[in-house]
Order: sequence, then C-alpha cells, then structure tokens
Amino acid sequence: MGTHRGLSLLLALAALVACDRPPLDPGTGLQGGDDASPQWDYGPARDWDGTTGTATCGDYPIKSAQALTTDERVATILSGLSLGEKVEQMAGFTQGAEMFATPDNPKAGIRGFKFRDGPRGVRLEKGTATCFPVAVARGASWDPELERRVGEAIGKEVRGLGHNSLLAPTVNTLRHPGWGRAQETYGEDPWFLGIMGIASVKGIQSQVPACVKHFACNNIEDTRMTNNAVVDEQTLRENYTRQFEMIVKEADVACFMAAYNKVNNFYCCENPTLLRKLLKKEWQFDGFVVSDWFAAHTTVESALGGLDVEMPWRFFYDGLQLAVSGGQVPEEVIDEAVERILRIKFKFGQALLSEPYDGNPEVVESPAHIALAREAARSGMVLLKNEESVLPIDRKAVKKIAVIGKWAVEARLGDAGSSSVTPSYAITPYMGIKAVAGKDVEVVTSTDASSAAGADLTIVVAALTQQDEGEAWNGGGDRDTLDLSADQEKLINNAAQISEKVVVILEAGGPITMEKWKKSADAIVMAWYPGMEGGKAMGELLFGDFNFSGRLVQTWPVKWEDEPEFGNHQDQTEFLYLHGYRHFDDTKVAPLFPFGFGLSYTAFEVSNLVIPCEVVTPGGRLVVSVDVENTGDRKGIEVVQAYVGYPNTKVRRPVKELKGFARVELAPGVKKTVEIPIRIPDLAYFDKDKHKWVVEQVEHALYVGTNAAMLPLQGTFVVGPEGKVAP
Ligand code: BGC
Repeated sequence: MGTHRGLSLLLALAALVACDRPPLDPGTGLQGGDDASPQWDYGPARDWDGTTGTATCGDYPIKSAQALTTDERVATILSGLSLGEKVEQMAGFTQGAEMFATPDNPKAGIRGFKFRDGPRGVRLEKGTATCFPVAVARGASWDPELERRVGEAIGKEVRGLGHNSLLAPTVNTLRHPGWGRAQETYGEDPWFLGIMGIASVKGIQSQVPACVKHFACNNIEDTRMTNNAVVDEQTLRENYTRQFEMIVKEADVACFMAAYNKVNNFYCCENPTLLRKLLKKEWQFDGFVVSDWFAAHTTVESALGGLDVEMPWRFFYDGLQLAVSGGQVPEEVIDEAVERILRIKFKFGQALLSEPYDGNPEVVESPAHIALAREAARSGMVLLKNEESVLPIDRKAVKKIAVIGKWAVEARLGDAGSSSVTPSYAITPYMGIKAVAGKDVEVVTSTDASSAAGADLTIVVAALTQQDEGEAWNGGGDRDTLDLSADQEKLINNAAQISEKVVVILEAGGPITMEKWKKSADAIVMAWYPGMEGGKAMGELLFGDFNFSGRLVQTWPVKWEDEPEFGNHQDQTEFLYLHGYRHFDDTKVAPLFPFGFGLSYTAFEVSNLVIPCEVVTPGGRLVVSVDVENTGDRKGIEVVQAYVGYPNTKVRRPVKELKGFARVELAPGVKKTVEIPIRIPDLAYFDKDKHKWVVEQVEHALYVGTNAAMLPLQGTFVVGPEGKVAP
C-alpha cells in the first residue's frame, strides 16, 4: 500500500512538471529542474513570467542589470561624443558611398557596422561564400537545431570575411503564396516562424549581431514601397508580429529592420506604434532599429518614431542635427538611439577599433559548411507524390535515366536580389544525380524530351526563375500565377508520353499548382532552391541513400482562387484575419497539399495520445506524449505535429493553430514515445479591447498527427487557475 501511494505521488509530481513550467531562476533566467525542455527551447531566455501561475502573457520581466558594465562603457563613450558625432553613428555614409556600413569614429575609438545580407549565406559584391538552401527549404526541415547550426555557420562566414553584422533572418508571414520573397521566410505560420527565427538568431548571434526583418507586414513585393497594410490589432499581433515578439523575448535579438511599406497609414520607419510602443516599450527590445535600404522618408518623424539607423546613406538623418538645434527632436532621442547602437557593439565585442577582428577566413566554404549546406538541402526537400513507390530508384532495376529540362543542367539557387549568394560552384540536378547513380546506371540529359526515349525513368526538373518570383528591384516581384510556365508543363506531359515512369522535381520558393500535369507524374519532389550542394542532395534522396523527411511549411492550394485575395496591385491592402491553413479550415476547401505534409519511403503510425493534466495554468506548460511507430522497412524521420483548437472561445479565433511538434528518427519496426511540449502562454489571443494577450480559461481541443489535415489523435484540456493532474 505504502509503495503504491509513493508511486502515485511520484507519478503525480512527474505529471505536474509536465503541466506547469517550473519557475525561472531570477538570477539566470534559466528554468530550474527542467529536464524535459522542448527541442526548440534554446538556452536562457527572457521568457514569460511563469512564476505566478496566473495569466501573465504579455507581462514580461524587464531585462536584468547583467549588462551593467556594458552600460557604463556606453555612458562613458556617449558623454564624450558631440551631437554631430552622435548623429554620425545613426546612419550610413554620405550619399554615393559604400552602402553596407556606418562610419567608424577614430577619435572615440568606435568601429562602425559592416552589414552583410542575408538569409541563405553571405552576399558579397566580390568573392564567394557557402550558398545554403533558401530559408523556406530550411523551414521545411522542421529542425530548429539545424537552423541554429546554419545561422552559426553564416555568422562565422560574416566574421571570416571581415564584416560584423548579418541582415537576417527574414520572418515575414507568408500571407499569400504569390509573395515574391516567399523563399526567404519559413512559411505561413507565425508561431513556427518564431521558433525557427529564434533558432536562427541564436546561431547567428553566437558570432555577430542578427537583424530580424522586415518589421512589419512586409508581405507584398510589387508595391512594397507604397503599400499601406490595413490591419486590425488582433490580426497584427497574432499573425504578423507574434514571431518578432517571440524573437525579442526569447533570442535577445540585436537589431530590427523596419520595412518599406506602411502599416495603418504610417511608414514602418516612422511608425511609433510599431517601433516605440510595441517593440521598444512593451517588448523591452534593447537593440537598435535600422531602416530597410532607402525605406526612410523623413527626418523628424523617423527619429521620434523610433528609427535608430538610416541606411544605406545619411540622407534624411543629415538633417538631424538641425532638427535638434531647432527643437523638433529632443537630444534625449538621439542619446537613446546612440546608446542602443553602442550597447550592441559592446555586447558583441566589436565596439572598439583597438579590438582586432578575430574572424577566421578559413571557414568560408569550408568542408564543414558545405556538408551542412548538403544536409540542410536533404532535410528540407519534400516528397509530395510517390505512386507505386517509383522512388527510391533501384540501382539494380533501372539502367538508364534521363534528367531533362533547362534546369537539369543549371543550378537554381534562388532570387538574384538582396538574398543572393555566389558560391564557387553549384551542383546541378544532372551532375548530382549522375554522381550518386554509380557506374551501373547510365544518366543522360537534354533540355527537351528527346533523351527520355529509351530511358527506364525520366526526371523532369522544372523551376521558377527570378523573373517569376523575387525581389522587386531585380526583374522579379510577386507571382501572377502559381502555375509552372506552359513550356515546362508541356515538357512534363510529353515525357509521360515517351517514358513509362516520370519523376518531377520542382525548384521554387513556394507552392506550384499542378492541375494540368499532376497525373503525368508518378512522383513529385519539392526541392525548393536547394543551395550549392542541391544536386547532390537530390541524388542522395532519389536513390534512397537518405530518406525524405521534409514537410511543407505552407498550404498548397489546388488553384489560385482558393486563396484569400492577395491585393498586390494596389496601394492599400486589407490584411484579413485568416490566411494559410487557418483560411482553408474556415472555407473548408480542400488544399492540394496541407500544411505540414510530406511523404517518406517508410510508413509511420501515431497512437496513444496522453494528456497528463486535466487542468493546466495559463502560465504553464503541457507536455503531451504520443507513440510513434515506424511500420515500414526503412529508417525514417516523422514530424509529429500538435494543433490546439478553441471550440469554447468567446472571440474570433482560427479553428486550430500549430503549437508544438517533435521530429523523431526511427529504425524500421521501432516504436517510441515522443513528448511534445505546449507552452500555454502561446495559446493566447490578442484582446483588442484590453490591448493585451489573453489565455482563455476554458476547455481547449488538442489535435495531434502528421499534417494539418491528418490529425487522428484528439483530446481536450482545460486552462484554469489551478493546474490539476489527470487521475
Ligand atoms: C531588402 C533587405 C536587404 C536590404 C539590403 C533591401 O532591398 O529588402 O532585405 O537586407 O535591401 O540589401
């Protein structure tokens, strides 16, 4: 009896740990006694205050005094600067000069910033660097730890090349799949964007300051310079700034880039609601805000609005000194901006000209970084269709393969805009597939379908170009269609006439509609823009040397009309509350492929959802578990996804939202119990009347499975004032 009671007590205690986040250590900000930390819970964080157990979302603790020495150093330097010198710190050089740096101040011994783009590696005017797969491909890995490693590698290359800050990551919500810069971000889900953005920033900031961009509602490319995003507060907070807020609070990011567009009538660079109220006051951001390049429009309004650094040149901020002497801008505003700038410089050990750079040029395109680029490419590719298991290719059965299409012999690395990276080489699909095929398989190529005749298998490589999608200044802009070009659709259909088996590989930054050719393809692979090692990664997956594990990070519609209106041809666009899977849940239109979807060469079964608590506190954490079994005959990775629904809500909310996931690798026949932590404050909605995040104290629904449309495991839990362990 005694043993029994002891055991129950132990179990109850264990469950309590699963239900309620342990208090934060006020000194370190670390969780005490927490050995069940989620995969994405990196290191010390300025987190929600989980100590009281009441609804505390939005009430975040102010940063501790740990930065005292830095503050003292900042104060000393600041007091020695003249107004002119302070203003000089707040912008790039004068017009016409270098576009990615701010000036040194040799008198004070202060170094300027040397910024570099961007999300898929270091962009250089001259020279080469490791070209990683684009961010959307890395998002599709659902592997934040991998993203942290990629961030760290890019950060090391920034330093190795003699620069000191990185203009990445991009975390804008993919509001519509037609967005021209879809490839630069991690997809449509704001919470997931936060998780991946946190990982990226942690990686980058192990080396150099990161600059998260583009704040905010930068979701349209064609009219990015003029568009006014009209967005209500709930929509803004939940769908367009949630990820930025998470990144400030959990990754202590150094820099924010204010976007080109307007939000609710104010340009982002002079938007006091975004920059002063949300970012600096409410979220306690202590880094600096830089304008996107040429995004500033004013002197006084920008300074008062919260813009700390104007880039690329000192244009509007040339008038700052006059604005101060004329009384339009208080000198305290200048001091605050310079304090922010200096604080980051000191924090990253690069403030002083007397401190030599310690970057290592050997890391640039090092074997380790190239291997990481290949790993990332493999991890992000998504198997969309695989009829009669045409893949993996059996080297013994298939003697001749044709790899066809223009893009079979040209590597597509992605946009040629600010995110472009030049590697010293890039492996094309044809080269990669041929290299991996081995000596017994003949691999031929042609741009048309001629080489498909006599081949056992035809692989069509179809892609989008920078004219189809990309940054507006490089011939790109938003997409007008989600279809492939007509000649590529024709090539696929022709290949199906000639060849018995057809595999289509897609290289693009987002969804492709396929009504006109899907039936012609036995297998379809989304390779995104897979980086310098992409061709090799493709080969390794197609031949089954590795298994597919990528999962979509956006909903793929059957047709353009299934999406909400894009509004990319007008200067004012209403940002509706629902987009992506939230919109498809609402309209009940079936997508072509749901969010979170991806096939594998093996099969998995998920079962036995355990919700360990009846009631969990609003500041708590619920660690649910599920059994995952590899029921196929190959090793593979499954991404188990947990969505929370709000059937008892009193307000406008989506049907469900992604709030947790776990990636698990299993050998054939193996079954494992995986834990998925759900942070209850993440379930908050933004109350537009109270102007704060609110966790509803009602019964919530939990849906667990393998994509947004395949959620066989369901349960409920109550959020209430007192956490209670299930009997
Ligand atoms: C882009 C930014 C980029 C900046 C500097 C702008 O056009 O929007 O993402 O960081 O240029 O290259």
